[in-house]
This record gives sequence, C-alpha cells and structure tokens, in this order.
Amino acid sequence: MNVVVVGSGIAGLTAALHARAAGHAVTLVTKGALGDGCTRLAQGGVAGAYGADDSADLHAADTLAAGGGLSDPTAVAVLVGDASARIAELVARGVAFDRTPDGALLRGREAAHSRARIAHAGGDATGAAIARSLTAAVRAADIVVVEGAFLVDLVVDDHAVRGIRLLVDRAVTDIAADAVVLATGGAGQLYARTTNPRGATGDGIAAALRAGAAAADLEFVQFHPTVLDDGSGFLVSEAVRGEGAVLIDADGRRFAFDTHPDGELAPRDVVARAIARQAAAQSSPVRLDATAIGAEALARRFPTIDRMTRERGFDWSADPIPVTPAAHYLMGGVATDLDGRTSVPGLFAVGEVACTGTHGANRLASNSLLEGAVFGVRAAAALGAPWPSGPDATLLRASTPSGVSAGPVGMSVPEPRASVPFDRGDVQRLMWEHVGLLRSDAGLRHAVETLRAWSAASRPPRSVAEHEDANLLLLARATASAALARTDSVGSHQRDTVAAPVLETA
Ligand code: SIN
Repeated sequence: MNVVVVGSGIAGLTAALHARAAGHAVTLVTKGALGDGCTRLAQGGVAGAYGADDSADLHAADTLAAGGGLSDPTAVAVLVGDASARIAELVARGVAFDRTPDGALLRGREAAHSRARIAHAGGDATGAAIARSLTAAVRAADIVVVEGAFLVDLVVDDHAVRGIRLLVDRAVTDIAADAVVLATGGAGQLYARTTNPRGATGDGIAAALRAGAAAADLEFVQFHPTVLDDGSGFLVSEAVRGEGAVLIDADGRRFAFDTHPDGELAPRDVVARAIARQAAAQSSPVRLDATAIGAEALARRFPTIDRMTRERGFDWSADPIPVTPAAHYLMGGVATDLDGRTSVPGLFAVGEVACTGTHGANRLASNSLLEGAVFGVRAAAALGAPWPSGPDATLLRASTPSGVSAGPVGMSVPEPRASVPFDRGDVQRLMWEHVGLLRSDAGLRHAVETLRAWSAASRPPRSVAEHEDANLLLLARATASAALARTDSVGSHQRDTVAAPVLETA
C-alpha cells in the first residue's frame, strides 16, 4: 500500500523504515530537514530494563506510579516489554550507546526510576546519535523523502483518510495515501518557556482534530524541572540529578525533600512545582548545584551540557546554575490503540503526537524515545491489516473525562482557523500563566474565554507561520478546555490557589 509518514523524529523514522521493510511504498514528509525536531535534542536516553537487578515489571511499576494511576497498564506492558528489542535494533542500526569497559550498556539514573536503566549515547547526546543513525538508514532505504513540507491538513473522504495536504514553497499540494502515519511530535511552543524547538507547534494533533479524530489527555503537559534560567530554554538533563546534583534555594538550602521523600529524584511534576513555588516564594531563581560531581566527570558524562552552559557564561563545575521549569512534553494527543490506530480509518499516530495511554498524567523520564520506537514498529506492522470495526475496535481513551472527541471540549466542529490579531507570544504567555504548572479554576476560565475571543477574531492562515500559530491557538483552546473539565488534581495537572509565577523572560 501507499503509506505517507509525516514527521522525522524517532517515531516517524522507525515507522517509515519498518513500513518499507514490510513492502509498502513509503513517502516520508517533514516540515524541516530530515531528523530535525525534538528527538535530536534528547539528552537523557532510552529507558529499558537491561541490568541483572532490573526487570520489565519494575520498569512498568515505575511508569505506572509516575503516571498517577492514569496510565493504561496494557499499553505500559507493551512499552516496557519491547524495550530490549528496540534497543537492540538501534544498536544494529549503528547507535553507539555508551558502554562499560566490559562492553555492557552504561545505565544512567533519572527521576522516579527505581533502578539505573537509562541507556545513553555520547554522554548526553542520545537523541542526536539516534537521529543520525535513523536518518542515514532512511536515506539508504527506498523511501521518498520530502523535506520543507508543511502539513496543512489531512485529506478525508467518506470517513477515511485518503492523503495529506501540504504547503511546499507557498504552493498547496496533495499526496494521496492508503494510510497516513502522523509522527509530528508535540506542541511545546504553546508555552512561553519550553525546551522544544520553534517547530513544535502541534501541527499533527491540530490536523487530526480538524479531521474529526479523537484526542485524549491534552490537559497533561509535562514541565521539565531544570532548564537553564537564561531565556534560552536549554535543558539540563535529569540525569545530572541522577549523578548527584542537588537543587538549592536562595539561601543555599536543599528544599526538594520538603515535598517528597525522593527529593530531587521525585517524579518530574513534583520537582517542577517545588522549584516554581520556591522561586516564587523567594523571588529568586532556584539553582542546580552540580559542583560535587567534579569538572572532569561533568565534562565526560555531560559534554553537551558542559559546552552549552560554558558558552552561555556559566561554569557549573564551580558554581550552581540558575534553573527554571519549562514545558517539555505532551502526555496527551491523538488517541490510539496499541497499534497506533486512531479513530479515523487509515490514520495512525505514533510518538508524542499520539496518546497511547502509556504516560497517564505524567511521563516517566526517558520513556518517550522508547515509546516512539516501540509504537513506530507496531504501527508499521499494522498497516496492511484490515481496519477493525465495531465498538471495541478503536481504542478509545477519549472516553476518559479529559477526552476530546471530534474537536476540543466545549467547542463546535469544524474549529475556525485563526490568524491575526493574536500573536504567538500572547498565547504562550497566557498558557504559561493560566494553563501551566499550577492552575486555578478562575485562571482556566480566563484562558478559555480569552482564547475563544482570539479565535473568533481570527482570519484564515496563509503562510506556514500563520498555520503554525492557528494550530497553536486550536491546541491552546483544546488544552485549556480539557484542563477546565478536569476538576481534580493529578500528576502534571494541578489545580492550586497559588498563582503561577509571573513570567519575566530573560
Ligand atoms: C532529560 O534528559 O532530562 C530529559 C529526558 C526525557 O525527557 O525523558
């Protein structure tokens, strides 16, 4: 069959390679250059139970605990159960994971993992190593690669996906397909502070919503606790805390144990909120103190962070560095079954664009590269199979309270598309302040109303930038509406009377 894969992170590259190996004609479309996007920026690594002291069951237990009870145990079992096969595949494709002198995988520790189980490459350049190997494999395979092509919409006819509509060099063009695999990543650009690149504008989720696909868990946005607080959005990997770095407040006091017995290695949402609260209480940034690790070990284990922080004027081997939380990962997305099928026949979703149910309310560190690989393979394997029908056939996690089916909660479909007068920065600031780390009913209502007004005043987008902003506005509305609809606090979604810290972007 003719398969179009949209997106070229680990999920899209893996799906394309496996679809081609299964004999399908594959076109891989990407909005930047092949391999651009979030995967190549990933520092931490790939989680998996590799050591004698570890097991898939322990990995599953940690994943379920981090997810706040909202992960789907079956999806989690699939994720952890396939980890060693996917790591072996990456090794076979040339990813040089870091190893001990006797050749075993070196295993890093990250928050909320009960074991050191993170495979990494180049110290803290795991994503770059994976992107390099997989893009080389795609270039060598008989796969048509279309770069610089923006996904405008899915082409849907008779309730099934028939292809995609692209904007390439300002011209609109359609590509017909028997199946479309969305692997377009997340929407970190929804927030004023983010680790995500400028292209993370949720194009695939927005297109899927416009096509009538069900989405789920959009209220669950993960904020990474430790991003360099200099306005750059540069991530300082959780693995640094795994190696012993600690968080200190303005008085030099370790405060992370005030909120959780695991201190700096508590689940990400807990640590991120603790940092935000402490910074707000003292009107001073929290700092990450990695000095005890030592200059030589920091440079060896974290060469990218070492270089990038020094380039920005920080010597983290000598002094604690200022850190802030920033939007990092979207747990929700286009709702899928265990093979990446969405609620729209012919449409698959894999990686961050998808909601497979593995992450629940808070993703466990370094489970995302793994998820992209695992579900990329599974979706490719399901391509030729007849599309299931009947009530049990398509998922649907969208039946959860936060589910967004055929358009965001409380909104009519089709969603009007937006352009001016709002500006991306306006959306990012609104989302940061009212739909961020700490949420309140009043703040969420204000966000929903403001976004509704911006949407009503908008015009149809024409350029890529306008399309991206329109997608962000649509997703902002969906996220804010889902957050308003979820009245309890769980995982990354916390309703609180304490306002989020006022944004002062450096
Ligand atoms: C990190 O290195 O801290 C990020 C890893 C992840 O997001 O899973």
